[in-house]
Amino acid sequence: MTELDLPALGLGTSANDDFEECAETVKAALELGYRHVDTAQMYDNEAAVGEGIRRADVAREDVVVATKVHPDNLAYDDAKRTARESLERLGLDSVDLLYVHWPTSAYDPEGTLRAMDELREAGLCDHVGLSNFTPDLLDEARGILDSPVVAHQVECHPLFPQEELRAYAVEHGHSLVGYSPLGRGEALDDPLLTEIAEKHETSTAAVCLAWAFAQEALVPIPKATGDHVRANFDAQELELDEEDLERIAEYDVRERVIDPDSAAWNR
Ligand SMILES: NC(=O)c1ccc[n+]([C@@H]2O[C@H](COP(=O)([O-])OP(=O)(O)OC[C@H]3O[C@@H](n4cnc5c(N)ncnc54)[C@H](OP(=O)(O)O)[C@@H]3O)[C@@H](O)[C@H]2O)c1
Repeated sequence: MTELDLPALGLGTSANDDFEECAETVKAALELGYRHVDTAQMYDNEAAVGEGIRRADVAREDVVVATKVHPDNLAYDDAKRTARESLERLGLDSVDLLYVHWPTSAYDPEGTLRAMDELREAGLCDHVGLSNFTPDLLDEARGILDSPVVAHQVECHPLFPQEELRAYAVEHGHSLVGYSPLGRGEALDDPLLTEIAEKHETSTAAVCLAWAFAQEALVPIPKATGDHVRANFDAQELELDEEDLERIAEYDVRERVIDPDSAAWNR
């Protein structure tokens, strides 16, 4: 299997770590039509995500399940051992997509990526993804991996549109999975995005997501609970016009929300 057709929208789950709330959110999302769920060792909710998938009246094989190896677990042996532990927590035989969460801490290109290849060869994941890489680190990883990189996950929203990494994704044929597509809530009060929302009589969150759907290769994964789960799914019906997209492209407000000192782009 070399290609992964990611659905246009995924469900983020970071900070959704109350077991029942997380399981019920995943179940509700899948029953509404979501077919891609994003978790990570770091989120402490893999067991709840797995439970939500089992509770949903949707076949397992219809859902893209993605998890990520914690940066502290990226040494060769630890990556292999903890990926198996993730599957046990999820209650799954394999995940569709296994990411390197951050190229930091125990990340060692040769050892980590050999572990990812071997996990894929052993059938524990169908595909390999990377997250929070720079173009140089992507080049290096692609040169080492036998597996194709099917997804690169980074922060991406109208106030941080990642032009270079989106172009890189299009050039190399992988999806750019956009995390924090609502800027973790910080994009929701932005004056330009609010004005565009008023024009379309919709919410600023819907504008952020519609912007993402309009970009080639970009797959947003908003985290949501309660009514926001449906609202974000329904945002797939909103179409921004050329004027809206141009105003966002030319906007001079640029804001990265997730920016740890250890990030590769700060080194
Ligand atoms: N790879 C990485 O390093 C990385 C880093 C960050 C995030 N991620 C992934 O990306 C996912 C999304 O990013 P994120 O959680 O940082 O931020 P986000 O999705 O941009 O924002 C989530 C926040 O927006 C709220 N929200 C959701 N839908 C809304 C709506 N329609 N109207 C108003 N508010 C709404 C949520 O509240 P409610 O819960 O109340 O709905 C939550 O407070 C994460 O959950 C995780 O899966 C990955």
